[in-house]
Amino acid sequence: MSERISIVSLGCARNLVDSEVMGGLLREAGYEMVSQPEAADIVLINTCSFIDAAKEESIDTILETARLKEEGMLRTLIVAGCLSQRYPEDLARELPEVDLFIGTGEVPRVVEILKEHQQNKKRRLYVGVPRYIYDHAAPRLRETPSYSAFVKVSEGCDHKCAFCIIPQLRGPHRSRPIDSIVKEASDLARAGVREINLIAQDLTAYGRDRRDGTTLYRLLQEMVYVPDIRWIRLLYAYPNFLEEPLLDLIHENEKICKYLDIPFQHVSGRILRRMRRGKSGSAVWDAIHKLRRAIPNLTLRTSLIVGFPGETEEDFQELLDFVEEAQFERLGVFKYSMEEGTAAASMTDQVPEGEKERRWQEVMDLQAEISRRKNEALIGTAQEVMIQGYDPDVGKFTGRTQAHAPEVDGLVYIESGAGARIRPGNFVDVRITQALDYDLIGAILGQ
Ligand code: F3S
Repeated sequence: MSERISIVSLGCARNLVDSEVMGGLLREAGYEMVSQPEAADIVLINTCSFIDAAKEESIDTILETARLKEEGMLRTLIVAGCLSQRYPEDLARELPEVDLFIGTGEVPRVVEILKEHQQNKKRRLYVGVPRYIYDHAAPRLRETPSYSAFVKVSEGCDHKCAFCIIPQLRGPHRSRPIDSIVKEASDLARAGVREINLIAQDLTAYGRDRRDGTTLYRLLQEMVYVPDIRWIRLLYAYPNFLEEPLLDLIHENEKICKYLDIPFQHVSGRILRRMRRGKSGSAVWDAIHKLRRAIPNLTLRTSLIVGFPGETEEDFQELLDFVEEAQFERLGVFKYSMEEGTAAASMTDQVPEGEKERRWQEVMDLQAEISRRKNEALIGTAQEVMIQGYDPDVGKFTGRTQAHAPEVDGLVYIESGAGARIRPGNFVDVRITQALDYDLIGAILGQ
């Protein structure tokens, strides 16, 4: 009987793609993939270590799974991903229950590493400088619903933001060639995918490392011709390289979602300089005006950090005014987390936790009002909705519009339409009837 492996994927969508590729390689090598760790002989936890909360979740998951091993239910425990990449020796010392630690660059070696361990039973660390990025030929065991997929177009990051550990965990920026991405998208479309979410650490930098004229604009020009893909969504863009031809293409092409996720992080010039973002407050505003002008029906998501070292009450008020004025459709707010190994960790003027919490709550409260007002403005409109499934707790179907990214944004709850033609991945027209802070409620048109 083949051995059973369960993969637990934590962290972001980029990590999920790595988990899917490792799953594909292991399945191809003859392992049986199971969803429940309790039913597995081997568990691989693909971890995140972005901020304290993510590290805690990773450690808790490792400890819980280690208990299965102590109880004799599990033979091998593997810890992969960003936590292994960041603290290999510390983890090896503190977590004797773990057999193998695999860094973010070792994804293609997962089968070889596991087989070697099964022969010699040695505990080992496999952590080097990450240089790998998958291609269309890599097998993938997709974890997302059949109609929606993430496609990672590049990996790594060359920016030096003072708060961020990710460049150290993911290595230098490297991009896939356009034809590999288009082939992957075509294969996904043939398998039933209708929504492709393009991801990277910095999507707008896509292609520039290749020095052969590859850009996000050129990639999109080809992707829009992939048959059967209805929505192409751009996630994790950096405020640089938002050039007009790219924005015009997003505006004009009906397959490209009028949706951008661009983390601005702050607006105070002083804080942006300390963050090493390479943009002033006025440049942030210029970028927003340019986006709103070029794509009038744009859903703009951003993320902001409150409580960065040295953030004064004045800087924070500037940030609040910015949120009020910019009227983002979607917003994620993070409390600054001091991460060793980053430039900001050694800054002396750290903001107390209680103060970070207050600032976080103020921004969240303000954004909830903005989001509800924006949702209320949609009442009475017709929206194209992709059905996600049925929520038995509320007795309604759920779906998303172009303006709702998977996992991070709200949902559309659909009152009617228990008819057989509603299936996950179907597109239906929905009249919006009610607005909540982040979700919408509507009814299928013509029913
Ligand atoms: Fe976490 Fe690594 Fe993603 S640190 S957010 S899993 S790139």
